[in-house]
Amino acid sequence: MKKLLAEAADRAARYVTGIANRQVVPLPADVARLEALGGPLPESPSDPSEVLALLDDIGSPATVATTGGRYFGFVIGGSLPAALVANWLAGAWDQNAAMQVMSPVAAKLEEIVLEWMVDLLGLPAGSGAGFVTGTTMANFSALAAARTALLKHAGWDVEEDGLFGAPPIHVVVGDEVHISVLKALSMLGLGRSRLTRVPADAQGRMRLDALPPLDAHTLVCVQAGNVNTGAFDPAGEICARAHEAGSWVHVDGAFGLWAAVSPRYAPLLAGAGAADSWAIDCHKWLNVPYDSGVAVVRTPEYLHTAMTLSAAYLTPGDGREPWHYAPEGSRRARGVELWAAMRSLGRSGLREMIERNCRQAKVFGERLRQAGFAILNEVVLNQVLVSFGSAEDTRRVITDLQNDGTCWCGGTQWHGQTAMRISVSSWATTDEDVERSVAAMIGIARRKSHKRV
Ligand SMILES: Cc1ncc(COP(=O)(O)O)c(C=O)c1O
Repeated sequence: MKKLLAEAADRAARYVTGIANRQVVPLPADVARLEALGGPLPESPSDPSEVLALLDDIGSPATVATTGGRYFGFVIGGSLPAALVANWLAGAWDQNAAMQVMSPVAAKLEEIVLEWMVDLLGLPAGSGAGFVTGTTMANFSALAAARTALLKHAGWDVEEDGLFGAPPIHVVVGDEVHISVLKALSMLGLGRSRLTRVPADAQGRMRLDALPPLDAHTLVCVQAGNVNTGAFDPAGEICARAHEAGSWVHVDGAFGLWAAVSPRYAPLLAGAGAADSWAIDCHKWLNVPYDSGVAVVRTPEYLHTAMTLSAAYLTPGDGREPWHYAPEGSRRARGVELWAAMRSLGRSGLREMIERNCRQAKVFGERLRQAGFAILNEVVLNQVLVSFGSAEDTRRVITDLQNDGTCWCGGTQWHGQTAMRISVSSWATTDEDVERSVAAMIGIARRKSHKRV
């Protein structure tokens, strides 16, 4: 076993140390070789060392180098060194984080991490939390707590009686709501379309002057960090109005909530800590390995009521039982990597990472603007939208850049314009990575767009 683990460590080390020098996307030939992992299931057992070798030899070249410093697609963080090795150890532990009795360490780490997180992000001490796969499930879990609370106040027990015949809940979202909130609402029986969409401004922020009347049956979903522009809904003002009316405010803060760790960027979030629930992603800007998100709820009882379960053979211990706060029963111990990431960076390391990525996003914006290309958003955080001319020009640059392999960016539509998205979310991104990537972008765009040279 020791030899096998050493082999795995060797192979992983080769992968990690080689990432800076490889191209971001795999070569088509490497993707084609994945067929070698298939074929009929072997009749007899294989040596684990051979299984590992096959996986590494065929699988590693067909990965996308998202843990390197030049991956700017979607919003994808890397894997901090301490988080990666904690993930290995957690693999060896193979703990079920459902209950304290199954894993005291997993249960304790969730408690510690929750305390650190609410402090770091300016959320209320004493909040409850569920540790889930990402923001989609964090939105789902927190919105389930919101549904429980709003219906309880209306005299309805949704856990026992379901939604048929329940008093209606009025859902308000910004026009730029992330699709994961709509998915969560649909899974909760609240519907993707049965809601009021509040018009947004040019940056995608909910317009306060367009907020509908709110009441005690209303659930308002606020966004902290637009996936395209990085913009923030005016959470403070929305919370003030919503709470006066008795509404619930949920904040989808997938990556934007991490701005709270920096005095320079925290003002973007002003008032978000007054909400009732928050969804936070950790595989994005905290840079822990996939998958990891947290649903935080100001009044833990609502999350508990929405998620709790019991059986004669599952006797709860004293204190917080993790599975009373998350949709799953059995779960991997996500608190392990969260603890390691926060413990290794500390407050100042986390602040440095967030501020560095934001500064790097600004550099992207400035360099591309100086080169004559249009930046479509105010670069307030870590997101940059750039147009290289016509929709066709921009699409061509994106495709050529992806094929070039120096770095990776995806495309989007922003207010009718085709744009390339640059999302700087990795601890591993150096200033040199930014310069190298921006040079590739400009070189490719100029080759294609002769008018601009
Ligand atoms: C604002 C926002 N909410 C939710 C999500 C969904 O997160 P996940 O893919 O972790 O479920 C994202 C992903 O980019 C996001 O940017």
